[in-house]
Amino acid sequence: MINDIGGLLLAAPAVQTAPVIRSLLAGAGGYLPRRVLGNEELALSVDTSDAWIRERTGIRQRHIAGPDETACSMGAAAARSALAAAGVAPQGIDAVIVATSTPDQAFPATAVSIQHALGIPGGFGFDVSAACTGFIYALGVVDAFIRAGQIRRALVIGTEVYSRILDWQDRTTCVLFGDGAGAILLTAGEGSGTGADHGLLSTHLHSDGAHADILYVDGAVGRRDRPGTLRMNGREVFRHAVARMAEVVDEALAANNLTHADLDWLVPHQANLRIINAMGRRLQLPPERVIVTVDRHANTSAASIPLALAEGLADGRIRPGHLVLMEALGGGLTWGSALLRV
Ligand code: ACO
Repeated sequence: MINDIGGLLLAAPAVQTAPVIRSLLAGAGGYLPRRVLGNEELALSVDTSDAWIRERTGIRQRHIAGPDETACSMGAAAARSALAAAGVAPQGIDAVIVATSTPDQAFPATAVSIQHALGIPGGFGFDVSAACTGFIYALGVVDAFIRAGQIRRALVIGTEVYSRILDWQDRTTCVLFGDGAGAILLTAGEGSGTGADHGLLSTHLHSDGAHADILYVDGAVGRRDRPGTLRMNGREVFRHAVARMAEVVDEALAANNLTHADLDWLVPHQANLRIINAMGRRLQLPPERVIVTVDRHANTSAASIPLALAEGLADGRIRPGHLVLMEALGGGLTWGSALLRV
């Protein structure tokens, strides 16, 4: 390139644009326990009804882990399925990041146990705790490692056994949750710079401890007197969920110079069909552009988004090139979004 400055001809070095490293979606998978607990069966043991649950939440049934199923075993199964979908061997994985609030043990981290269960010989693993927003947080963490060039292939897993932290006599909470695991494989690849970039375009993470008392578990392994049971003020959570998720959706679109019209899919956290429908309406997305699993899975917390994503990919609704918006809110409060071009 030649610059003409003050009558002198200077040879300037050719400008080379460094390739943009992005986290690309290589595969997704899910795992659900065999045991299915329908609303009618649940109503035999707690004062509720199929009609109430369906009308207020959209939930018809949930899967419940058996005695041998844990966050680790289910997460490993989902990860195997994601690796199979991607055609990638465990030997090539640099990191395993697991979002869970219901780990098998305080340590080793569920991620390290899954790393071992899959026979991944190297790299590292750790758990992320952000309740129902955990998978979005895990995506943000992995994306930062990949963009920094520190890792090239990472399993991102959400796996939960909320059935073990519920009060099964409390009808205001026990009807809402289920067990399961979802996983994706992210690989480092070159984004094209502008326009139809592929991969994770952005993640936005938020938390605010001021509202911790509306959704929490009242104990943990660090408290011998209290292993912990989930407590919730449903109305308050509902109110915050709609408001915060609306904000974070706008934030994600604005940060990428996009509008709702650019979106192909909403893959929301699956807590309640009324919240999901409110977000769909806000984004002017018709119901057939929103992936819904809450009717069959109930709320699987950190597992709900990767399970929904895996389902949409497996049945061919979500296809290469599609723009997918994921959003969640959970205990903390935590909330966030991730925008992905498949
Ligand atoms: N079966 C029958 N009746 C019930 C049940 C039940 N399972 N649960 C509550 N009720 C009763 C209440 O006792 C109350 O009775 P009352 O009027 O005699 O006092 C009545 O139903 C209405 O209760 P509300 O709490 O006002 O019902 P609401 O319409 O708010 O629905 C719900 C409750 C479904 C929990 C709703 O508030 C909600 O979905 N909130 C979001 C909570 C959520 O999704 N949490 C998941 C974790 S956070 C997240 O993932 C976003």
